[in-house]
Amino acid sequence: MNYENLLTSTENGILTITINRPDKLNALNKKTVTEIGVAITSAKADDAVKAVIITGSGPKSFVAGADIAEFVGLSVEEGKELAQFGQAVFRSIETCHKPVIAAVNGFALGGGCELSMACHLRIASDNAKFGQPEVNLGLIAGYGGTQRLIQYIGKTKATELHMTADMINAEQALALGLVNYVVSPEQLMPKCIEIIEKIKSKSPKAITGVINSVNAYFENGTDGFNAEINEFGKCFATEDFKEGTSAFLEKRKANFTGK
Ligand code: COA
Repeated sequence: MNYENLLTSTENGILTITINRPDKLNALNKKTVTEIGVAITSAKADDAVKAVIITGSGPKSFVAGADIAEFVGLSVEEGKELAQFGQAVFRSIETCHKPVIAAVNGFALGGGCELSMACHLRIASDNAKFGQPEVNLGLIAGYGGTQRLIQYIGKTKATELHMTADMINAEQALALGLVNYVVSPEQLMPKCIEIIEKIKSKSPKAITGVINSVNAYFENGTDGFNAEINEFGKCFATEDFKEGTSAFLEKRKANFTGK
């Protein structure tokens, strides 16, 4: 599919979505958020896609936030609609049944930090910078940032970052538990691929069970332990489970089909 603000490519079952507005440090205008939603929806439906990497174009920025130029003149209702729309697209990433990894190659600010947090894992290059600087603009995060940053780094530091608009570097993000790994810019994509290849060798059905169960912990009104019971039970009906246990007993490598 052709997109205006995204580049996409698929190799070995890994779809790479590159946000491609380098002149604007890949700021997320509405068109770009819409296209991310379309790309994720088609990745979910495409059997050839086993995993997704989201990254930014150019050496400087993952995504430097929502496009500030589009905020001008919005009414209260329009502001709410924008947040609702962004949250829905980011939620579709978080609930994707295939693994989604953010390759954070520079600034991940505002909506960029929020986009990375909607992904299941975050790998950062050592030039990455994270922050929620919306209060500088008289705003707060609107694409799930007030909720997800707490989930990753706890209330104490999350509140500080939202209130001060401070940026943190990749090593600080690692120490706080916001990212999984920090690597050099050259190693960013190889590291993402290494992790995805490891995940791809497991049962896709079980990986989906992990995603659903982990997400359930953070869903209001959902008993995560009960969700885990259901996801655990579902595994027993899968061919992947039969293959995994047979392979173990036959002392061979499992060949999972995701069925
Ligand atoms: N929305 C719209 N445009 C943005 C943007 C955003 N979030 N972030 C950067 N840009 C644009 C700049 O306006 C500039 O465009 P121009 O060349 O047409 O003037 C271009 O991207 C390059 O940015 P610039 O500010 O010149 O780069 P820099 O290296 O000096 O600074 C940042 C980088 C990230 C520190 C700075 O761009 C910034 O603070 N951006 C806004 C971050 C933010 O507040 N995000 C949350 C939004 S809710």
